Amino acid sequence: MKTSCCAVVAKMFVTAALSAIFFFCTRAQEVPAVQVVFTDKGLQYAKNVFTNWIQDTLELITLPDVKGQIPLGFLGQMDYTLSGVNISKCDFPDPSVQFSQEVSGLKTTMAGLNVALTGDWRVHWGILNAGGSFDVGVFQVGVASEQHLGRDSGGRLCVSQVICEATTGQVDLRLHGGSSWILQPFGSHLEAFIRRQIQARLCPTMEDLVENLEQHLQAMKVRLQVNQDLIVDLPLTSRPVVQAASLRFGLKGEVSSVKEPKEPPFDPQPFVLPEHAQFMLTAALSDFTLNSASFSCWAAGLLHTFIDDSMVPASSPVHLNTRSLGAFIPQLPGLFPDLPVVLKVHARNTPMFSFHPGAVTLILPGAIKAFALQANATRTPLFKLHLDSSYKGSVWVDNGRLKSSVTMDNLNLTLAATTIGPFKTDALENLSRMTMKMLVLPPLNDRLSRGVILPQSRQVHLVQAVVSVEEGFMDLHSDVELRLNHGTMEH
Ligand SMILES: *[C@@H]1O[C@H](CO)[C@@H](O)[C@H](O)[C@H]1NC(C)=O
Ligand SMILES: *[C@@H]1O[C@H](CO)[C@@H](O)[C@H](O)[C@H]1NC(C)=O
Ligand SMILES: *[C@@H]1O[C@H](CO)[C@@H](O)[C@H](O)[C@H]1NC(C)=O
Ligand SMILES: *[C@@H]1O[C@H](CO)[C@@H](O)[C@H](O)[C@H]1NC(C)=O
Repeated sequence: MKTSCCAVVAKMFVTAALSAIFFFCTRAQEVPAVQVVFTDKGLQYAKNVFTNWIQDTLELITLPDVKGQIPLGFLGQMDYTLSGVNISKCDFPDPSVQFSQEVSGLKTTMAGLNVALTGDWRVHWGILNAGGSFDVGVFQVGVASEQHLGRDSGGRLCVSQVICEATTGQVDLRLHGGSSWILQPFGSHLEAFIRRQIQARLCPTMEDLVENLEQHLQAMKVRLQVNQDLIVDLPLTSRPVVQAASLRFGLKGEVSSVKEPKEPPFDPQPFVLPEHAQFMLTAALSDFTLNSASFSCWAAGLLHTFIDDSMVPASSPVHLNTRSLGAFIPQLPGLFPDLPVVLKVHARNTPMFSFHPGAVTLILPGAIKAFALQANATRTPLFKLHLDSSYKGSVWVDNGRLKSSVTMDNLNLTLAATTIGPFKTDALENLSRMTMKMLVLPPLNDRLSRGVILPQSRQVHLVQAVVSVEEGFMDLHSDVELRLNHGTMEH
């Protein structure tokens, strides 16, 4: 029971924290259980990756053929074709991308872009045909734009362009082949044409990039499947907050049951996530996310298990039968001689997690119902014990895996109901503690120490992630490695 719950919890943290980076709501006043901070370091890194991606992509582009006419007054017009136009060199200056509080979004500027194009030209005028090659340098191209980040009605992050301005400097064209009387009018026409084309295309290109990003954001899910039983809702609870050196998101972070969703009887508590400028991003989770998961497991009846003697090690001094348990409950063997005993262990209420500096604590209100298994397979109820226990755990990241360990703090056993008369529970309490410490926790810790892999997508990898537990929340700081393929941005 505990093992699967811990695995769920570990997976949940990781899934929520990571997904939160990309997925983004409902009521405006909601307190977010998950917070994500994307720092300037992350923005600059993303910008560099994107710049390199653009540069590589530009070099692969073959521009479409261009056909046009040059009016020659009463001499009619000259038809021309530009074909095989390639970008031979692109001197892509480092663009600047900054958080902008004014537009509540991003400010991107690029100045001093120089591009060299090569291609073939061909003109046709009456019976005259001429052709050759050309190269052209376009200098000091610049574009300044601002994008607003918001939250749509579905709780997703949305981005829109608010301002864009483009400038083009000098165009330097060289034509090879052909005779000068053709080149003269053709050259100056072409220079002006190229300048107009570039000027006219810069802002629509920026618009396309923003639209492309917006489509990616729209395609993202605000509800993710955690496992077969649970889902986590991660819509933005409010508009993203743009600060001078960071971008903050608050996400709902509520886990619910797939089959029978129920509102948990507790609310998320607000917490303040400090900024860690040295990491590209920080994602934090309040105990609400874990506890909503815990509540959902409990409310869906998942937190129970049966224990019979086949699960007790042969070497154990105590076995699950009325004779062996007679050492603790003297009247039992007399009332039910030589019968196997089955225990139903379950959570009486939601196991609750809380976060404190350096430690996660868990309070588990449990119960044990004992039955004697009759020869005709009838289960005769014997007694019910309340088993209240508390645990402390620590979490850390090692080798890209989220690991943890758990120790028991406290365990109390009290008799809640009995059909066989009262008996003392001290010795049984001792036995329960020993069972917990020697039989339950070691295999659990063994599993937790192997950890769960921090999820990575094909394009996003966490680098040097650190996890820490603070008062009221647990956070993950990390750098990120983005791996964009050519064409990744296309759809
Ligand atoms: C442009 O690139 C294409 C495809 O790589 C090539 O076939 C063509 O010859 C190139 N044109 C020039 C003018 O270099
Ligand atoms: C099963 O056996 C027990 C004890 O012998 C008896 O009390 C009970 O009525 C039996 N139940 C059925 C369904 O036969
Ligand atoms: C066990 O009982 C003690 C004393 O009554 C109490 O302080 C402690 O909180 C209890 N532990 C749990 C886990 O309920
Ligand atoms: C339970 O264990 C404690 C210490 O381990 C011991 O002092 C106490 O006598 C034990 N109680 C019983 C009833 O066995």
